[in-house]
Amino acid sequence: MPESVLITGGAGFIGRHLSAELLRRGYHVRVLDSLIEQVHGNGKGGHTGGAEALPPEVEFQAGDVRDGDAVARALRGIDRVVHLAAEVGVGQSMYAVERYVSVNDCGTAVLFQQLIEAPVKRVVVASSMSIYGEGLYRTADGGTAEEVVRRLRRPGEPWDPLDAQGQPMRPIPTPETKRPALASVYALTKYMQERLTLTLAPAYGMEGVALRLWNAYGPGQALSNPYTGVLAIFAARLLNGQPPMIFEDGEQRRDFVHVEDVAQAFALALEHPAAAGQVYNVGSGEDRTVREVAQLLARAMGREAIEPEVTGQARLGDIRHCIADIGKIRRELGYAPRRDFAEGLAELAAWVAEQQAIDRVAEARRELEARGLVA
Ligand SMILES: NC(=O)c1ccc[n+]([C@@H]2O[C@H](COP(=O)([O-])OP(=O)(O)OC[C@H]3O[C@@H](n4cnc5c(N)ncnc54)[C@H](O)[C@@H]3O)[C@@H](O)[C@H]2O)c1
Repeated sequence: MPESVLITGGAGFIGRHLSAELLRRGYHVRVLDSLIEQVHGNGKGGHTGGAEALPPEVEFQAGDVRDGDAVARALRGIDRVVHLAAEVGVGQSMYAVERYVSVNDCGTAVLFQQLIEAPVKRVVVASSMSIYGEGLYRTADGGTAEEVVRRLRRPGEPWDPLDAQGQPMRPIPTPETKRPALASVYALTKYMQERLTLTLAPAYGMEGVALRLWNAYGPGQALSNPYTGVLAIFAARLLNGQPPMIFEDGEQRRDFVHVEDVAQAFALALEHPAAAGQVYNVGSGEDRTVREVAQLLARAMGREAIEPEVTGQARLGDIRHCIADIGKIRRELGYAPRRDFAEGLAELAAWVAEQQAIDRVAEARRELEARGLVA
């Protein structure tokens, strides 16, 4: 009998790719997902569709992860769980506080309440790089700065954090050992999900694993959701002939990881004996500026004439730089990112060309501005 895996939130971007990967590895896959409108739309197009976009072999159950009965049903006969169901926008989390805490934290609590009754072998939770706050920095004199806190920037000041001598610091790869610095409601909720998993799983004879993901990209990301997925948001703008809107000066650095590599990391975290009780960073191991990826995407989509709009505004709760040290997952689980960035962008561009996207970026920015969450 093949083992059965439950993926909560499995109808979303990462869940669909992970479903395909787990089917390839011979698992039976069940998905529990409430198909929220911000991701899946209301049937009027411009979104990612619903359960019909999952591979046909996947068993789909509609339901909310906060509904104990739905979760109990979804757990019947299950051997392993991947917990992806979440609200995923950093900026939005700073005003939709109740919704984020409810889905992300109460959702995880309800899941574990049910797992106490019906334990599984292993639970893997999707955490995020956002829990680090600012990543690690190298100071001008060659030291390492771990506790960088972003302060409100006055006009004319540099965007990059400065060291105690007022010298600019350089971001360096951030390992799992860096202490969390929770700068947004989203980050808080992700850390809570991580801790619930790593605390409760072993207390009930299960194994817990947390993956801290950097920016996933690839075909299937919700193009009309203006709150998440920077490449999808840029793609939706370009598709509609609009410039990508870039916060700050566009020089902030991130790691963009192809969703198939993310799926590989989840499969390893689900199976590898060494993963029990661990947290792992998941990225590509390469860092880029947001401005650079906007320009490369425009070129891949044949829209290089559209220059990005650099707003010079920062979102509250956003971080300046955070880049991934993926040494631990490489060493311990044998993770190896396979997808080349240029090739991944070409694939994304080809997929986007077949889509419709409603551009809600200006609307989302107004939501933040109205609440004083950009400055
Ligand atoms: N995509 C990224 O770059 C990234 C980065 C860091 C962490 N993550 C984490 O990975 C996970 C998956 O992200 P994604 O990019 O696939 O997001 P997504 O928005 O595409 O998928 C999330 C899914 O969860 C479902 N969902 C939301 N609320 C639910 C609820 N109450 N009950 C049941 N289902 C619910 C949604 O309908 C959606 O299908 C999330 O936990 C996210 O925080 C993603």
